[in-house]
Amino acid sequence: MEAALAAFAVPLPRTLTTKPRFTSSFSNPKPISLLSCISKSRKPISDGFKTAVSTSPSPSIATPTNSPPESETRDESESDKFDWYANWYPVMPICDLDKKVPHAKKVMGIDLVIWWDRNESQWKVMDDTCPHRLAPLSDGRIDQKGRLQCVYHGWCFNGSGDCKLIPQAPPDGPPVHTFKQACVAVYPSVVQHEIIWFWPNSEPKYKNIAETKKPPFIPELEDPSFTKLMANRDIPYGLINQNFFD
Ligand code: FES
Repeated sequence: MEAALAAFAVPLPRTLTTKPRFTSSFSNPKPISLLSCISKSRKPISDGFKTAVSTSPSPSIATPTNSPPESETRDESESDKFDWYANWYPVMPICDLDKKVPHAKKVMGIDLVIWWDRNESQWKVMDDTCPHRLAPLSDGRIDQKGRLQCVYHGWCFNGSGDCKLIPQAPPDGPPVHTFKQACVAVYPSVVQHEIIWFWPNSEPKYKNIAETKKPPFIPELEDPSFTKLMANRDIPYGLINQNFFD
């Protein structure tokens, strides 16, 4: 099961000057071309989505005699490749989240825990796996200091993924909680359109990616003449995909 998040923007009856628009975002580890269909039906909404449009020539068109050398063609297609792990993806609408507990969600094949870090006043998106014995952190809780605490042995993590407490570690022993192996991967995340978006790559070079690249902007979701309906359900991707194309 993968997460599917859909945002509906419907114009109010009194301002019915445009057709109701439907916008949707999906997550899937396989490169299915739904996003390219969205970007082709209207102006591209982000650089990342734009690159999803196929540039394959029609099979009915004869190959020109002055076609570029094969190596050149290969270079171009390599650079046009859509990088599925270098783009923003919607995770959850804020309205579906409770700040008092961690939440589990699977997006892009990655098990995520989403939780409210009250110390930084931010939603955090992290790997849903405790580095100790791999228990799901989403089964844990938010402790009294506002940290994410694993349900199994009580390790506590801050919003940067650093382990801040190992209850069983002797106070006069080595500071094992500071070891790199005790950290949890944190994914870049941002709130836009009242939806949490995440960048599915926790490498340090992407830490501040939100400053240079934003999630796709959907103007209807910010237009007060439209009403919004957010829906978030775990359903088989193939099923909803087929449903939309029927
Ligand atoms: S598995 Fe998380 S603290 Fe042990």
